[in-house]
Amino acid sequence: MAAGDAGRSGPRLEAALGDITIEPVDAIVNAANSSLLGGGGVDGAIHRAAGPELLARCRTLGGCDTGDARITPGFRLQARWVIHTVGPVWHGGTRGEPDLLESCYRSSLARADEVGAESVAFPAISTGVYGYPTEPAAAVAVSTVRSTPTKVRLVRFVCFNAETFDAYRALLGSQPL
Ligand code: AR6
Repeated sequence: MAAGDAGRSGPRLEAALGDITIEPVDAIVNAANSSLLGGGGVDGAIHRAAGPELLARCRTLGGCDTGDARITPGFRLQARWVIHTVGPVWHGGTRGEPDLLESCYRSSLARADEVGAESVAFPAISTGVYGYPTEPAAAVAVSTVRSTPTKVRLVRFVCFNAETFDAYRALLGSQPL
């Protein structure tokens, strides 16, 4: 990299296989629903690990639109912050799902920048209960993070299963396990 490029370069991107609730990063992203009052999947895991204070704080936020993001403390998590974003439900791709998913990643990075978080872990938003196919969702995640200006220095895509991990590795290149 040429001298002086450092300030313009984007975050380092990594894929990892594991549980996002134990990630030692500044902020983890939650794949929430628009109520922000908890649910299953990664949302349920994050609320269990963060403790009841998280739900109490989320109750004060008044929900969140699809494609938008809100931020709370991480309470009992190692991560200082939780960024709650609401992915689109997959309806075959004809109802603006890619744009809404892109907006989740951009909004989440904006919330991270507002609090000065330098490392952020994302789950594969919308690819569980909401049914977004894994490979196209990973492509949106990687291309959006690469093209969004941010002060975040590290983005880790935390994959809960091998299929998701393989999709990210294909996009990012081989990563050590
Ligand atoms: N760490 C990392 N990834 C996880 C974890 C974990 N601990 N647990 C699950 N995943 P989903 P969505 C993966 O269903 O599709 C909730 O009920 C999972 O394998 O959690 O955006 C909310 O309240 C999948 O790859 O989120 C909403 O109602 C990815 O996380 C709804 O589900 C996303 O799966 C949101 O659905």
